[in-house]
Amino acid sequence: MTQNNFQEALRDPVFESLHKAAKELNVTCYVIGGFVRDYLLKRGTAKDIDIVVVGSGIELARKVASLLPSKPKVSVFKNFGTAMLKFDDIELEFVGARKESYHRNSRKPIVENGTLEDDQNRRDFTINALALSLNETDFGDLIDPFNGVLDLENKIIKTPLEPTITYSDDPLRMMRAIRFASQLNFQIATPSLDAITSNKERIKIISNERIVDELHKILASPKPSIAFALLHETGLLSFILPELVALQGIEEIEGQRHKDNFWHTLEVVDNICKTTDNLWLRWAALLHDIGKAPTKKFQKKIGWTFHGHEFQGSKMVYKIFKRLRLPLNDKMKFVQKMVLLSSRPIILSEDFTTDSAVRRLIFDAGDHVEDLMTLCEADITTKNTKKQKKYKNNFNIVRQKIQEVEERDHIRNFQPPISGEEIMKTFNLKPSKEIGTIKEAIKEAILDGQIPNEYKSARVFMLQKGKELGLSQD
Ligand code: CTP
Repeated sequence: MTQNNFQEALRDPVFESLHKAAKELNVTCYVIGGFVRDYLLKRGTAKDIDIVVVGSGIELARKVASLLPSKPKVSVFKNFGTAMLKFDDIELEFVGARKESYHRNSRKPIVENGTLEDDQNRRDFTINALALSLNETDFGDLIDPFNGVLDLENKIIKTPLEPTITYSDDPLRMMRAIRFASQLNFQIATPSLDAITSNKERIKIISNERIVDELHKILASPKPSIAFALLHETGLLSFILPELVALQGIEEIEGQRHKDNFWHTLEVVDNICKTTDNLWLRWAALLHDIGKAPTKKFQKKIGWTFHGHEFQGSKMVYKIFKRLRLPLNDKMKFVQKMVLLSSRPIILSEDFTTDSAVRRLIFDAGDHVEDLMTLCEADITTKNTKKQKKYKNNFNIVRQKIQEVEERDHIRNFQPPISGEEIMKTFNLKPSKEIGTIKEAIKEAILDGQIPNEYKSARVFMLQKGKELGLSQD
């Protein structure tokens, strides 16, 4: 017999308070959604717990808060009939069961109260409509009207109602389906996938913040290519990141082909997810080649080129971040920098590596030189094991060189050994162009290896440079 009581999932004392509060108010309530799903999937117990009440969610939240020892503050969202409170590291969300679709980011206020079944009907997926009773007579009983447990076992994403209805209630659910498929490694049921394809344009009514939230969750998953392939297959990607779609395809002219940069990018993203949890580095992997579509050219005798795609790509990062309302701060600058520098270590690994080239790389990448190497290693997607080995080995040499040069020359977080003030004093200068020229010349001489990165040599170099510029000493 399949198990239908899960009291053991409800051991946390907070459930006892919920049970008591509901009893005192004479209402019934249930844990629903992600908590139940993740418990059954043995993904650990979620700290965000959704409670559905056949009655007022706000009243129940207030009652629960009064029973908890810490008497937490209740945040009320009156328009939506929802309330939230924090207890230890747990966040409880309360909502009254309703006939209308439930989604907390909708601008529509709630309309009609409903039963538990009504509420389950209007949820996104069968695996998210599973509820556990918190009530006296059946505490811990699983209420699963759509065989969600079976879908969990079969790893299927399916909507409780006809998919078009569920998706038009909240078009973000199309992305959620894809995100869950990627996070859980589930399949989306064919009618659902078809409905996403035919309703893709409706994603336009969803705010960028909500879309980005899903993109972040996709990028945080172990194999984001699952989601991006589905976003592409259904056509959603054209509305979200058309720059990526533009990378898809292989052209051939005079027997010369270039690689498909879309599928290559997805491989790079999957690769980097094995070596870093840094979300922004994962973004950089996703966007590292976007400049290739607008810079692609076929040149006779040379073949396909993507000259300047790194620079073009870094400019596109800004546009994409702005459009999607991603932060336009140091995170964006980091992604831009990674995209801009994404080919540099490869060039270093192919050629004979001079110290000055390594010094310049450290200077340009600064504290992010390690991240850049991680990105470049993920960029190796050749299936030729011999080549793979060779590239990896070359990158190891570059890494070693970086370490050696840095230990000796301290280029990371470069501070000019001679200040502008000293230059002014030495040559009795007022603020002027010459100071910048001398400073730049000192920096270049250090990066080129003409002089070591230290005060004495820099001073001698400065005096010499001053002479060349016809400056007299004080
Ligand atoms: N839900 C829904 N439609 C949405 C968003 C949410 O029906 N567009 C319902 C689902 O029942 C979902 C629950 O609200 O399980 C909670 O939503 P949320 O906290 O966003 O997702 P979780 O399922 O908890 O999963 P995760 O935390 O991984 O996002």
